[in-house]
Amino acid sequence: MTSSAIAATGLRKAYQDKIVLDGIDLEVAAGTIFSLLGPNGAGKTTTVNVLTTLMKADAGTVRVAGHDVATDTKAVRAAIGVTGQFAAVDDLLTGRENLKLMTDLKGLRGDEGKRVVADLLERFDLTGSADKMAATYSGGMRRKLDLAMTLVGRPSIIFLDEPTTGLDPRSRRTMWEIIRQLVTDGVTIFLTTQYLDEADRLADRIAVLDQGTIVAQGTPAELKSQIGGSHVRLRFAGDAEIEAARRILTGTTTDAEDDLVLRVPSDGGAKSVRTLLAQLDAHSIEVEEFSVHTPDLDDVFLALTGRTSEKVNA
Ligand SMILES: Nc1ncnc2c1ncn2[C@@H]1O[C@H](COP(=O)(O)OP(=O)(O)OP(=O)(O)O)[C@@H](O)[C@H]1O
Ligand SMILES: [Mg+2]
Repeated sequence: MTSSAIAATGLRKAYQDKIVLDGIDLEVAAGTIFSLLGPNGAGKTTTVNVLTTLMKADAGTVRVAGHDVATDTKAVRAAIGVTGQFAAVDDLLTGRENLKLMTDLKGLRGDEGKRVVADLLERFDLTGSADKMAATYSGGMRRKLDLAMTLVGRPSIIFLDEPTTGLDPRSRRTMWEIIRQLVTDGVTIFLTTQYLDEADRLADRIAVLDQGTIVAQGTPAELKSQIGGSHVRLRFAGDAEIEAARRILTGTTTDAEDDLVLRVPSDGGAKSVRTLLAQLDAHSIEVEEFSVHTPDLDDVFLALTGRTSEKVNA
């Protein structure tokens, strides 16, 4: 067994004549968070399905927790937990009953099963709603319950397929905290997402998936150096102002769509923004419009492939 929790080489998968995974190589070190980043239809769920033994690849090899997914399916399944893109929660059961179903499936009986259920409800802040039907839960509560169900068997490797899509900012942050805590406890996380900021905040390594191939892979910092970081966008009233601003600011670039806009590389933090505006002020250069731009998935795709992510699906 190596220290890789997940190692895949040359993964291929097609549905009839549609190639969905076209030779994927991935390696995830144990105890880290790996994020597969890609737009709708990129092949994220297909990758998760193959890595978790739910689907057979047409070609390639995958080892998860040191076991071959094709020949040692049982051992792989014993080591992993999967929270799918669509919640596996049973709407007609309460939160507690959903969890009990999982402890029963895992063979945790009597008091032990009850203790595990109570612990998980507590940990996910669901104790107060434990005896309400899951149908009445909000999206964020369902996601939490779903993940709690995944944790029943204490898996060492957890696959999360778009765990925060559709959640409000507060629920997203809660989910991020839960994920970070799992890694602190030694769990390996394989996470898919459509959000660059999520991958950036959570992942030790990110792979960008585009139409079934990995177009970039590295640490968030490596990826950001490839796509360019955040910048401040300044719009001026006229050519004189924009020229004056260009003379005093360093590293500015123009905007292809708007002649009166200058982009200035910046971390977007309050301090650097204040300094920038003070600099312009000191030269009496007036700014008409001002915004901070943090790169998103579209910027990643534009930088890496020359297309935006929306065009991927066109
Ligand atoms: N069972 C299937 N039969 C035929 N085509 C499929 C099947 N499942 C997925 N596909 C196609 O494979 C491609 C990749 O799908 P996949 O679900 O892996 O993408 P995804 O990255 O998870 O997208 P999303 O962000 O929308 O969840 C898509 O074009 C999809 O239409
Ligand atoms: Mg998917």
